[in-house]
Amino acid sequence: MKKNKLAIVGVGHVGSYVLADAMKLGLFSEIAVIDKDEGVAFGEALDQQHATALTYMTNITVKAGDYAECGDADVIICAAGPSVIPSDEEEMPDRAGLAVTNAAVIREVMAGITKYTKEAVIIFITNPLDTVVYIAENEFGYPKGRIFGTGTMLDSARLRQIIAANYGIDPKSVTGYMMGEHGFTAFPVFSRLNVQGFGEKELDKVFGGKEPLDRETFRQKVIKTAFDVFNGKGWTNAGVAQAAVTLAKAVMLDEKSVYPVSTTLHGQYGYNGDVALSIPCVIGRNGVERQLEIGLDEQETAWLHESAKSIQETMKTVKT
Ligand code: LAC
Repeated sequence: MKKNKLAIVGVGHVGSYVLADAMKLGLFSEIAVIDKDEGVAFGEALDQQHATALTYMTNITVKAGDYAECGDADVIICAAGPSVIPSDEEEMPDRAGLAVTNAAVIREVMAGITKYTKEAVIIFITNPLDTVVYIAENEFGYPKGRIFGTGTMLDSARLRQIIAANYGIDPKSVTGYMMGEHGFTAFPVFSRLNVQGFGEKELDKVFGGKEPLDRETFRQKVIKTAFDVFNGKGWTNAGVAQAAVTLAKAVMLDEKSVYPVSTTLHGQYGYNGDVALSIPCVIGRNGVERQLEIGLDEQETAWLHESAKSIQETMKTVKT
């Protein structure tokens, strides 16, 4: 009988959260965890197996393994590699600083995965995310669309949270997302931001915000809040793990949901195979099933090109 199988590569702070969220999702009958530290993989799997005796989700098999476990996986989530730049004292360390280290990690991970499958949908979390996605998508002959990254999914959740807090409303009533780099140059698509149809220019008048909706001020709030988490606890994991598992659910249920995810552009905004960044995409059983080129205003278009340029600068440092 067909089992729904997830493989998680890298079970550190982020991967272990992915495992916990995936267990609670209850969509996978088998979850395999892979880590270069076999003891960690074994311990994480056994710990979660014990938990099923309390949650009565005893139909889920959780086990540690190697890349062979990817052979029959439907979805693979990769959180391998360090999430913090070694000895970076910056208050807002640039994720791009991880590029050389994690490019090598991703090339090793993809070599391991592609020994056993080119079918599974692979969702990347590892930073610098867009560069990682570009490497994985373009260096291993993997089918188009079946590799993508969490991209600005989490940044978009942070945007909705920050807008909602400014106006004293529920985040679920805010429609809006970020595009571009999962990094310093990410930007909100303000021209499409709305609260139940009330657009960007109406929000201050209708909801009376704590502060007026200045675009650059709020863009920086979203970018900075990641580092509020990071500087508070030394890493981030809960938000991005939930983003990855939300995407895995969209794949498994063939939802055709539209989310901003990192993917190599194929003609959108004038980029054709030369950069990966977050744009709205239709997510279903085959991964990224459609890439959507939403109309942007002049400022947003400038931000997008700035983002692409920033990512391409990072990509240059890891070219083979
Ligand atoms: C963050 C990490 C995942 O933004 O880059 O939380």
